[in-house]
Amino acid sequence: MDTNYALGDLSQKHFTVISRMMYELCGLSLPENKMGMVKARLLKRLRALRFNSFEQYLRFVRSDESGRELTSMIDALTTNKTSFFREQAHFDFLRATILTPLIAKNRRIRIWSAGCSSGEEPFSLAILLKEEVPDVNLRDVRMLATDISHRMLEIAREAVYEKDILGDISPQFLNKYFTCVRTKPSRAYKVNHDVRSIVKLAWLNLIEDWPMAGPFNMIFCRNVMIYFDKPTRQRLIQRFWDILEPGGYLLVGHSESLTGSSHKFSYVQPAVYLK
Ligand SMILES: C[S@@+](CC[C@H](N)C(=O)[O-])C[C@H]1O[C@@H](n2cnc3c(N)ncnc32)[C@H](O)[C@@H]1O
Repeated sequence: MDTNYALGDLSQKHFTVISRMMYELCGLSLPENKMGMVKARLLKRLRALRFNSFEQYLRFVRSDESGRELTSMIDALTTNKTSFFREQAHFDFLRATILTPLIAKNRRIRIWSAGCSSGEEPFSLAILLKEEVPDVNLRDVRMLATDISHRMLEIAREAVYEKDILGDISPQFLNKYFTCVRTKPSRAYKVNHDVRSIVKLAWLNLIEDWPMAGPFNMIFCRNVMIYFDKPTRQRLIQRFWDILEPGGYLLVGHSESLTGSSHKFSYVQPAVYLK
């Protein structure tokens, strides 16, 4: 049987069903121009499960009471691109402006990496804390790192990264904060325990209720809200405001801004907002 013919066939009707499900479940906006992307990513699921059509696949997703396939579908359709020390300007700002007064006053530090993907963002922040905050492991410093993708959280929990993924990490940081755990066929490094212990990883769907009370000193929600529509972004920005302490910061991705949403934050510099 020529399965490729049947497999490639994602009808408008099925795309609309998938798009609506993803919007309702996790706020992801999948307009029509994402049809090719949806098809390509879900075809991998169809092949893995040996289904011949999206009709069969969707029937399975709906009937799977364990919710496991729905989880895999969300994993497949979220975009998880990330890297260590991505958007360096934020790390410079954190070092120069946010941390200094908190350290001087010996204040508690609470950071939330909302949409942390496979851990590169929170571990970069934890490395920065190790560098900048004296005796950080003895202080009241904690970071929450959450994501909706179980697959990404698994990678973050393992905290083992291939050498090429660690490209932006200086040799000095590599020596200090990572341990080589494999040399062949390629080198891989694990984030050291004293860095990992600063970060608490947890599953969380941003559009559902949040179990934590806050308040946070800073929230990194970078390159996440670009996948949401305007009303979802608007609600989220208000909720970030509510859970930040006065004087707290919201940092979004450099390709994003709060322009177009009504909010009470003050603009500080590109992609940095102050409550
Ligand atoms: C492109 S990555 C950004 C990672 C990191 N913040 C960075 O800037 O490098 C976006 C992440 O947001 C997560 N995400 C998407 N929708 C979400 C939701 N409703 N709740 C929680 N996380 C979500 C995705 O799983 C993905 O890992």
